[in-house]
Amino acid sequence: MVRFPPGFRLEALSSEHPREPFTSGQEQVDRWLREQALQSQGKRLTSTRVLVAPTNELAGFFTLATGQVDFGDLPPVLAKKLPKRALPVAILAWLGVAERLQGRGFGAMLLAQALNDCFVAGKTFPFIAVILDCVDEPTKQFYARWNFCELPGRPLRLFLSASELKAMAEGAG
Ligand SMILES: CC(C)(COP(=O)(O)OP(=O)(O)OC[C@H]1O[C@@H](n2cnc3c(N)ncnc32)[C@H](O)[C@@H]1OP(=O)(O)O)[C@@H](O)C(=O)NCCC(=O)NCCS
Repeated sequence: MVRFPPGFRLEALSSEHPREPFTSGQEQVDRWLREQALQSQGKRLTSTRVLVAPTNELAGFFTLATGQVDFGDLPPVLAKKLPKRALPVAILAWLGVAERLQGRGFGAMLLAQALNDCFVAGKTFPFIAVILDCVDEPTKQFYARWNFCELPGRPLRLFLSASELKAMAEGAG
């Protein structure tokens, strides 16, 4: 369970949230929240949770989805003993913190919450790993301490195995 600072609250994205003024500094991340996240959620393709500041502005958000990776795309250590077919994964599709609040731990808190949500969901709908695509090389550093690894041949695609996720979630609990 992640503790956000007093007055900050985590909510499921709805049309009531002020998405338009949100800026993380990455245009594609902001465009997703402004223009696509709500529609996508309505179609049951993704699920977005927003962190609402005491001022009611959006402090940050993350989007989760389910997906598949092909057996052949996995590193041998993960592919071992798995069937040679498309395999289920959880996807951390988007993550962003309002520019003015960056560098204060909100990104780490939102990532911890997103991974915990994946862990809880995985008890009912199992998957083999959490996958994410970094927007660029430098941002990979942000995920480094969480034991994410690169998928072979895909330097911006990172994965965290379900067993590491479990160890992390149970260690934090
Ligand atoms: C990446 C992002 C979510 C980080 O949020 P944040 O609130 O600034 O991060 P935190 O304050 O929790 O930082 C946690 C750690 O990651 C590091 N870090 C933060 N942003 C980083 C970045 N862009 N690149 C590398 N390291 C970063 C911090 O230095 C900090 O390390 P420290 O504890 O040793 O000081 C935020 O910068 C953001 O929204 N960026 C634009 C959108 C984006 O790139 N999203 C990610 C999509 S892959």
